Amino acid sequence: MNRDGEVFLSIERYALMRVKIDGDKKEIRSVWFEKGRVLMIDQRKLPLSLEIKGLGTVDEVCISIREMWVRGAPAIGITAAYGMAIASLTGEDVKSAAEKLKATRPTAFDLFYAVDYMLEKINIGDDPVVAAEEYANIIIEKCRSIGNEGAPLIKDGFRILTHCNAGALATGDYGTSLSPIRTAFSEGKIIFVFVDETRPRLQGARLTAWELYQEGVPHAVIADNAAGHYMRTGQIDMVIVGADRIAGNGDFANKIGTYEKAVIAKENGIPFYVAAPASTFDLSLPGGGKIPIEERDEKEVLEFGGVRIAPHGSSARNPAFDVTPARYVTGFITEYGVFTPEELPSLILIIKGRGE
Ligand code: MRU
Repeated sequence: MNRDGEVFLSIERYALMRVKIDGDKKEIRSVWFEKGRVLMIDQRKLPLSLEIKGLGTVDEVCISIREMWVRGAPAIGITAAYGMAIASLTGEDVKSAAEKLKATRPTAFDLFYAVDYMLEKINIGDDPVVAAEEYANIIIEKCRSIGNEGAPLIKDGFRILTHCNAGALATGDYGTSLSPIRTAFSEGKIIFVFVDETRPRLQGARLTAWELYQEGVPHAVIADNAAGHYMRTGQIDMVIVGADRIAGNGDFANKIGTYEKAVIAKENGIPFYVAAPASTFDLSLPGGGKIPIEERDEKEVLEFGGVRIAPHGSSARNPAFDVTPARYVTGFITEYGVFTPEELPSLILIIKGRGE
């Protein structure tokens, strides 16, 4: 396999997670495990082409996470769980595989949660492939439940703002912020989604818009700096975003730009919801101050589609995430229901009670 991964198939026309393969429609997840390999949609290529990559070593899995072939906290966690299964299958030391996987991206808590889950299962002698598959199924089921819990918050006629991509691509299936939107739409509610383009990697314009387009959900991509205008002029009824790591008090990290959307939403009296499963809650952190923020290559900001857009003498800063204080959050939509920041202690009791 070269550095760019092996291309299994390349498909021109497709429907969301239901892709046409040899003339047949097939339902796929954004990442899955087959015959000792992790298969994944290469999210760098969407929406121009749908390519499935196959990875057979821990090092390849690490590259796929670090270079964002796969991204989104829960999908990163699922990929890492499969990476641990590959370590066992290929005879690689699982402890060093765990270290390598944990070093790929620092902010998304699901990565650390998934690797520790797998270490625990491997230590008690469980079959690593079965454990990784169970992990993926649990996370995807949680995302389905987030859709059911969150859909009642979306009223008929609502115009919803979302940031980055927290859809099926980011979670294996369903999504977190997109899951209630999908459910509400499938219930026949009339909705409209404003999709922040999400500079610099354009996860909104490329991935969220692709998912909504495939499902037929009415939407418009907006420049990141247009969201304030739509909120101030009364054209947005609610905001739903995902999260990469949520501290015990509800402060949370999400894609850079989330914080300013939350502040503007509060200023304009617009409800602001965070959708995430228990695997995103880092209960070792009392507040958001210690959430590690990934700083990515300055080229992501200085270039656009590989073409330099800033003067050659200029440098850039590129934090991938920001932290939003809990006071800006109306509610956390989880698989266990919707909780205000003040109600988080009861969610934490549920999570701890279930040993998650
Ligand atoms: O850098 P990314 O694309 O991995 O960032 C993704 C996000 O910020 C998502 O909003 C978050 O992971 C939630 S995904 C369900």
